[in-house]
Amino acid sequence: MNIGFIGVGHMAGSILRALSKEEGFSFYVNDHHLDKMMALEREYQGRVFVTVNQEILNQCPFVFLGVKPCDMNALLASLGKDHPRTIFVSMAAGYSLDELEMHLGNSRLIRIMPNTPVLVSKGVTFASYRRLSKDEKETFERMMTLTGKLHEIDEEKMDVVSVLTGSSPAYLDAFADALVHFGLANGLDEKEATEYVWDMVEGAALLGRESGKSPKTLKEEVCSPGGSTIEGVRVLDDAGFEQTIQKAAEASLTKTKNMR
Ligand SMILES: NC(=O)c1ccc[n+]([C@@H]2O[C@H](COP(=O)([O-])OP(=O)(O)OC[C@H]3O[C@@H](n4cnc5c(N)ncnc54)[C@H](OP(=O)(O)O)[C@@H]3O)[C@@H](O)[C@H]2O)c1
Repeated sequence: MNIGFIGVGHMAGSILRALSKEEGFSFYVNDHHLDKMMALEREYQGRVFVTVNQEILNQCPFVFLGVKPCDMNALLASLGKDHPRTIFVSMAAGYSLDELEMHLGNSRLIRIMPNTPVLVSKGVTFASYRRLSKDEKETFERMMTLTGKLHEIDEEKMDVVSVLTGSSPAYLDAFADALVHFGLANGLDEKEATEYVWDMVEGAALLGRESGKSPKTLKEEVCSPGGSTIEGVRVLDDAGFEQTIQKAAEASLTKTKNMR
């Protein structure tokens, strides 16, 4: 199957790379940056074709729109309204199905919210659909298993999950970075400190998932009275760790809702 990408930067490029694991997929791409597309063409020889939007629409049943939200209006205006053969997949944060429909008319539409781990096929992506048949939805769901998990969601919840899973990898990276700095300050080198921190994150996530316990319960279980962990957690509590995370998430949510 041919899959189109208009705008193939960080996020759309990550999706393309995950989908490339399926040998049967070829990719028709267009981006402002020729160098980026030529690099993809070289990397996936014979499977990535650099072309213009009209050719993408002619060749591809699914077309991902990978441009920034502020570039969506201009792009959609240039595409026009009559697309009986195309299913558009928009990943633009804060850009609603109604807005897509205003530009693309009665086209079949998917609004998704992916996160960066799609690159390693461990992403979580949320999708809201408009006018897709059951078969088309199933084809899309099968395709997206290459990127990780896909959840269908009511569009009203899209902004919240975008913060919960789309912005939050950066919060986790900030937390991990702080731990790496602690390791460096206490005699570890950067390579070992980084490796140990990611091992911990991976293990803690798996334990959380497999134990079925809440994060709060797991935290309490590590905090034995008189132990060392509880001393650190007290410092986090006193410094307003929970409130800081809530404030960060609220700030991301406000921005998501007012993206343009
Ligand atoms: N990054 C994330 O974690 C994440 C998560 C979820 C959703 N998203 C969504 O993914 C989308 C892309 O974000 P990104 O971080 O991947 O952005 P990005 O790296 O800047 O990629 C966007 C690319 O599209 C190009 N472009 C803009 N208008 C175009 C047009 N009309 N035709 C062809 N190419 C065009 C841009 O070129 P110029 O540089 O010249 O503009 C750029 O190369 C956004 O809508 C964002 O909301 C991102």
